[in-house]
Amino acid sequence: MIMKNGKLAIQILAMPCNTNPSGDIFGGWIVSQMDLAAGTLVKRISHGRAATVSIDSISFLAPVHVGDLVSCYVEPLELGRTSLMILVEVWVTVFKTGEERKVTEGVFKFVALDDNGKPKPIKLPT
Ligand SMILES: CC(C)(COP(=O)(O)OP(=O)(O)OC[C@H]1O[C@@H](n2cnc3c(N)ncnc32)[C@H](O)[C@@H]1OP(=O)(O)O)[C@@H](O)C(=O)NCCC(=O)NCCS
Repeated sequence: MIMKNGKLAIQILAMPCNTNPSGDIFGGWIVSQMDLAAGTLVKRISHGRAATVSIDSISFLAPVHVGDLVSCYVEPLELGRTSLMILVEVWVTVFKTGEERKVTEGVFKFVALDDNGKPKPIKLPT
């Protein structure tokens, strides 16, 4: 059995407006949820603004369907001076069966920013 990595950052219901022409949930929508989830972690740690600077890898492992509960889990991977690499795992819960499965994973790099939009040093809480 695959275990979840990280802490729950956001949860959202997959809606019909987020589908691709085949009727599955559009990958770009999933990536934007992952970006939001990683952003919440950095903003919480840095107490301010943060920007995505890179997305190093994204793997779409299984489709997401309308009505699935989409949960994004985040885990800090590597701390730089002003940046943080974050693993994001996306899991879905199928309400009808209660089944949970990992559908997407990726690594996002964020930079903490000061009020002028310049990189500022970041520390993980002890
Ligand atoms: C974030 C931003 C202000 C950083 O400015 P910058 O001049 O690149 O700053 P620096 O060169 O000092 O780099 C800051 C950190 O970002 C990292 N970084 C910058 N560009 C990167 C890239 N393309 N890939 C990976 N890391 C990068 C650096 O390694 C550095 O990390 P460290 O301090 O932990 O060692 C600037 O790149 C920017 O505005 N980018 C656009 C962000 C954006 O619009 N994102 C989408 C919406 S949120």
